[in-house]
Amino acid sequence: MSTTELPASHAELMDGVYRWQRHIYDLTRKYYLLGRDRLIDGLDVPVGGTVLELGCGTGRNIVLAARRYPDARFFGLDISAEMLETASTAIAREGLVDRVTLAQGDATAFDAKALFGRVGFDRVFVSYSLSMIPGWEKTVSAALAALSPGGSLHVVDFGQQEGLPRWFRTLLRGWLRKFHVAPRSTLREVLESESRRTAASFRFRTLYRGYAWLGVVALPR
Ligand SMILES: C[S@@+](CC[C@H](N)C(=O)[O-])C[C@H]1O[C@@H](n2cnc3c(N)ncnc32)[C@H](O)[C@@H]1O
Repeated sequence: MSTTELPASHAELMDGVYRWQRHIYDLTRKYYLLGRDRLIDGLDVPVGGTVLELGCGTGRNIVLAARRYPDARFFGLDISAEMLETASTAIAREGLVDRVTLAQGDATAFDAKALFGRVGFDRVFVSYSLSMIPGWEKTVSAALAALSPGGSLHVVDFGQQEGLPRWFRTLLRGWLRKFHVAPRSTLREVLESESRRTAASFRFRTLYRGYAWLGVVALPR
């Protein structure tokens, strides 16, 4: 696993959040990180394609995507050494070591060539990580820059719970704050404006009455 320079305080914060949580993460998060499987289904990875997840956490998504797209190669980046330890174990347990490369890095500024020995991915995805990344807008630009022509960026994250009762939204927000999670109210606008800047097409869906948002930015060939 390779690393580049990291913003130490954010890396330490994430390690602090996940040092113990990582052991129960996959079990507990399946009930509230909704839309992740839909994102994986929608990746539609080309034969022999390459897929990068930014903020890959425990590797849960990479393992499922690797089963779904058996001839693709996967790359995972995370700032937390603790999360990457769990991800490495999961990938070894699943027999995926030959198809998955993990690296420690900051998703707002990473050098794919230095970390993974390659540039130009067919798919990049970010699942419930933009809401934890300070300066998350830079991750959107960096993700688009990491794509090959014709590639696509897929994002799923908390929405604004716009169709849900106010009490639910207040409770959810208070609870998420404890984990340093802040749903990004301008996510749609940022993805839309990045799509315009890169002449990409843009699709956006709200899931479960705004509990989650799912966006896809597809670059021209
Ligand atoms: C809520 S978890 C999501 C994990 C996984 N994507 C999933 O869907 O289960 C957020 C992840 O983002 C990572 N993260 C936070 N800030 C980051 C940054 N600046 N660069 C890379 N990873 C980051 C955290 O360490 C954590 O593993």
